[in-house]
Amino acid sequence: MAQKIREAEGLLRSVPNHGEQILPRDGEKNVLITSALPYCNNVPHLGNIIGSTLSADVFARYNRTRNRRTLYICGTDEYGTASETQAIKEKITPRQLCNKYHSLHVETYKWFDIGFDYFGRTSTPLHTEISQEIYRNLGKNGYLERQTKEQTYCEDCSKFLADRFVEGTCPHCGADDARGDQCDSCSRTLDAIDLINPRCLIDKHHKVVTKESAHMYFRLDEIQPRTEEFVRRSWKEGHWSPNSVINAEGELIDARLKQGLRPSPVTRDLTWGVPVPVDEDDKDGMRGKVLYVWFEACIGYVSITANYSTEWKRWWFDHKNVKLYQFMGKDNVYFHTIFFPSVQIGDGRPWTMLHHINTTEFLNYEGGKFSKSKNRGVFGPAARETEVPVLPRTTMSC
Ligand code: MF3
Ligand code: ZN
Repeated sequence: MAQKIREAEGLLRSVPNHGEQILPRDGEKNVLITSALPYCNNVPHLGNIIGSTLSADVFARYNRTRNRRTLYICGTDEYGTASETQAIKEKITPRQLCNKYHSLHVETYKWFDIGFDYFGRTSTPLHTEISQEIYRNLGKNGYLERQTKEQTYCEDCSKFLADRFVEGTCPHCGADDARGDQCDSCSRTLDAIDLINPRCLIDKHHKVVTKESAHMYFRLDEIQPRTEEFVRRSWKEGHWSPNSVINAEGELIDARLKQGLRPSPVTRDLTWGVPVPVDEDDKDGMRGKVLYVWFEACIGYVSITANYSTEWKRWWFDHKNVKLYQFMGKDNVYFHTIFFPSVQIGDGRPWTMLHHINTTEFLNYEGGKFSKSKNRGVFGPAARETEVPVLPRTTMSC
């Protein structure tokens, strides 16, 4: 009886045939869902699962039941210092490291019965191609500028010590184990050159100095008016929860927007990443550098879709028919609401942009935040070893 009624209402679910790609349909509500791409230098912890993959999964299942064209995309975020440092610790290459942890992520989510339509990774040729194209478009449109910057440099390793390769005393609170990008004791963000007594993480006896390096900066300041316009519109249309960027009264509360966005570096002196695309003459001197991981990570959603289907543009360049829902932990909000939308605006093509954002507070465990770097929390493989079933499959499988 129930089924008949649903059939009469045209609600009977149509499931794509085996092997058929899920693509949006004109004139319908099509739902593109992403959950934050987990870093690939460690196993997933329950924070990832509760904070983004599980809620996105529930929402995807709901939309499929509503018979909407629904594509749920995720994958591993593989580049950057976090993977390079871990690879050094494990004495393997970053590629081997990412292969190892990518498989562990896949297995864990499978065990949790998370129903991604496609789970990919960022270290693919298509990811490089799409990221470089966006970077070039920003350049063509006048949104990149070159600046030189003092950076910490290890004379023994002959390399710049970006972010997490350097440790030292925090200039604000005096904690002895502040990282180059942040002090975990006082939570302040840092610039590595401000650390007192900086140490190279590879070997604390190495000689660390400061040295100049050139980088390309993205002119967020130029784009800000359009970013704000986007934030206000999408906040209203997509019913963002108050207190993410805007409060219940409709006022901007994001500190960075309020203070005015500043140009932000999008290149790094590293090897494990997407190479900065350079012309023959390489007039900016960018050869050998890579794109900053947070610049290309959000592009991962796009490239992972491209690895799923050659018709990926039907999802990513159709703001009329496609609604983009993004799930993540709180620490990722800035990059999804301000940074990546600004990149899309600067790129100039008619992108599908964030419609609704869903965020989760940090999970606490044993008196502190869940943290992969501190190895505090409950991790996926350990949860699996408990043999506690995930959920009764009859109610969740669809
Ligand atoms: N890897 C990041 C984290 O685990 C999230 C990246 S989301 C992305 O916090 F969209 F930028 F990929
Ligand atoms: Zn060193």
